[in-house]
Amino acid sequence: MRNIVILISGGGSNMAAIVKTAQRERWETELGARIAAVISNKADAKGLQFAAAQGIPTRVLDHKAFASRGAFDDALAKCVDEFSPNLVVLAGFMRILTPGFVNHFAERLINIHPSLLPAFPGLHTHERALAAGCRFAGATVHEVTAELDHGPILAQAVVPVMPSDSADALAARVLTQEHLIYPAAIKAFLQKQT
Ligand code: GAR
Repeated sequence: MRNIVILISGGGSNMAAIVKTAQRERWETELGARIAAVISNKADAKGLQFAAAQGIPTRVLDHKAFASRGAFDDALAKCVDEFSPNLVVLAGFMRILTPGFVNHFAERLINIHPSLLPAFPGLHTHERALAAGCRFAGATVHEVTAELDHGPILAQAVVPVMPSDSADALAARVLTQEHLIYPAAIKAFLQKQT
């Protein structure tokens, strides 16, 4: 059985979409893959409750309890390794990861970012897309490399920007597409990995 470990920081709607797709498409029998754990750097991340209710092991590792980014990432890598991951999925995990962490999980670490990379890496993507007058926005699933929000692109979805859009309205439109492309990209990744 191949193990997928999902890292979250908040609502966890992408994680929930992945879990539901895995259940609906019977990934355990069809792909030999299961969601082995959901790990959050925030104890109050809403997604933890959903994961626990699905019978998925959850862990919390509070980054504020560590003296440095490196110390947190070392502890996080150990926590993730307890679940022998074949794939580590960043799903709204709002931490910049050290090269040490990224290298440790090289070629089995993926992320979703709410922009059409390479446009708008970093934070506040929807505000920046609106300020730039973009007619289209979207989301990108990519392999994680040491450079923030770079790395080979695995999937993208495009949505129109409406003249009346607020950042929240645009974020919601993009998020509905994230919920489709992230599970699909994970499935394709697993199919390629076998
Ligand atoms: C998603 O829009 C995801 O793309 C974004 O955070 C949101 C998490 O939502 N991730 C980043 O901005 C990473 N830099 P969720 O917790 O409901 O999945």
